[in-house]
Amino acid sequence: MQTHKIAVIAGDGIGPEVISVGMKVLNKVAELDKSFKFEFTEYPWGCEYYVKTGRMMAENGIEELKKSDAIFLGAVGYPGVPDHISLWDLLLTIRKSFDQYINLRPVKLLEGAPCPLKDVKKEDVDMIFVRENSEGEYAGSGSWLFKDKPNEVVIQDGVFSRKGCERVIRYAYELARKEKKTLTSISKGNALNYSMVFWDKIFAEVGEDYPDVKTYSYLVDAASMFMVKDPKRFEIVVTSNLFGDILTDLGAAIAGGMGLAAGANLNPEREFPSMFEPIHGSAPDIAGKGLADPFATVWSVSQMLDFFGHDAWAARLIEIIEEMLVEKKVLTPDLQGTATTDEVGDEVIRKLMEKSV
Ligand code: NAD
Ligand code: IPM
Ligand code: MN
Repeated sequence: MQTHKIAVIAGDGIGPEVISVGMKVLNKVAELDKSFKFEFTEYPWGCEYYVKTGRMMAENGIEELKKSDAIFLGAVGYPGVPDHISLWDLLLTIRKSFDQYINLRPVKLLEGAPCPLKDVKKEDVDMIFVRENSEGEYAGSGSWLFKDKPNEVVIQDGVFSRKGCERVIRYAYELARKEKKTLTSISKGNALNYSMVFWDKIFAEVGEDYPDVKTYSYLVDAASMFMVKDPKRFEIVVTSNLFGDILTDLGAAIAGGMGLAAGANLNPEREFPSMFEPIHGSAPDIAGKGLADPFATVWSVSQMLDFFGHDAWAARLIEIIEEMLVEKKVLTPDLQGTATTDEVGDEVIRKLMEKSV
């Protein structure tokens, strides 16, 4: 029997609530399939750990995580610990240490999901964002001169390497070719006269190897407008770290809300573990009340199953989410339901048992 070793970092706020559902779903899938199983190692890292130890993760944390086949993460960040510390010392350290340079985020409207846009059908919102996840505006390069003096200056660099741009753009072209979809690059070459001019140049250069892929290029301001006004323009999308971060929250808003938005941080070469997580944060405003929607986490579980080659189970989970959205019987309050996080999880499991793959 195949064993997938999963490092679990439930993290902060609603993280533990949604991860608990995710782990139950993974176990149920394995139990029903019988050809593989999951072995979980849970790490108590996050803001509470920081308050106790002064660190967001153990000193040998990265070495520990390296032993796993994948990482399953809830959310990081909580009031009381500065966000730039909690995120940089845990989530971003993992993404960077394991060269998870692809952040794959589906923006897909399922039947029954609430869409705030007028006259939009399910088929009109069906995108996959390929967000650069290792450098760009989030490279962490810069300086703070004359700190706390009247003449203080801060500099935050955007770092766009040829290797970094080429690999994410090539990944997106390959995906567009495989899926027979169009590819849209989103940048901002008119104002960012080094980084984004370079990005556009590499998008065109790599594109020479993919004459079969139909491409579009948009400036990020116009792209955000078109995502709302005419979302069907977008199929596969490739963009920088910052733009991808912002546009995928916008994407979440048009595809049913933060409770439904999933993401995979991939190291495509599989030299290091990849990480699966909902794209939402720790939602301190609803934490600990059973109000968190676990669908985004279940969708991330689906991405993990896909990554391990269990495609049929991956597809079944999306189907189950869609069935539940259509039935409207067991949904959390963000989707106008009255069910708790655990009740939604239990219904997913009931449906898994009712119809196997
Ligand atoms: P957030 O995503 O936590 O919350 C934004 C809004 O969406 C809130 O009203 C919240 O209640 C709602 N929401 C989010 N997830 C939900 C779910 N599953 N079900 C129902 N409602 C949900 O974003 P924020 O408030 O900007 O950030 C809170 C903290 O999380 C901050 O510390 C931030 O740095 C951190 N953060 C972490 C991650 C991550 O770990 N991947 C991502 C984003 C933000
Ligand atoms: C996300 C989050 C993170 C990001 C933050 C918390 C650093 O917003 O995963 O979208 O910007 O990558
Ligand atoms: Mn984000």
